[in-house]
Amino acid sequence: MLEIGPGYGPTTRALVGLVPKLTALELDPRLAEDLERTLGGRATIVQGDGSAMPFGDDSFSAVVCFTMLHHIPSAELQDRLFAEACRVLRPGGVFAGSDSGMSLGVRLLHVGDTMVVVDPDTFDGRLSRADFTEVRIERAAPPRRSFRFTARKPHETG
Ligand SMILES: C[S@@+](CC[C@H](N)C(=O)[O-])C[C@H]1O[C@@H](n2cnc3c(N)ncnc32)[C@H](O)[C@@H]1O
Repeated sequence: MLEIGPGYGPTTRALVGLVPKLTALELDPRLAEDLERTLGGRATIVQGDGSAMPFGDDSFSAVVCFTMLHHIPSAELQDRLFAEACRVLRPGGVFAGSDSGMSLGVRLLHVGDTMVVVDPDTFDGRLSRADFTEVRIERAAPPRRSFRFTARKPHETG
């Protein structure tokens, strides 16, 4: 499994015992170094950008990201990350995750920080355009505006 945007690693710590092999890709060099120190023996930590991934095609059976998409500074870069997630997945592999929707609380939390919220109403189309299939978006019950999603890279057709 590949996790994009582990941050200081709460989700990484939860995942590391659940999957046979975990790689975490973090943009921030300092956070990547900290993770290497704390989790390096149990997961492969890579410093890099989810919208230009340093991995070959078909490298992972699952790609996940939690509460990180809205930290990507434009919709175009987000779309590149979705295309990259599809590229590095094996055929039949799953892309899954969750993110925050727009709300006053989210806005206040991100004063002075990047916040380009993914709209769950148009997200399925964006994932389909990145070549994913079986896209499912599940919104949290109001008043929460977060959502989670799964999508699959198509099996090779022959
Ligand atoms: C709010 S943290 C989420 C941490 C963790 N996934 C969680 O749920 O607690 C978002 C992380 O995504 C990272 N990030 C932002 N853009 C990224 C990118 N293009 N590639 C990889 N990581 C990125 C940020 O550096 C930050 O550490």
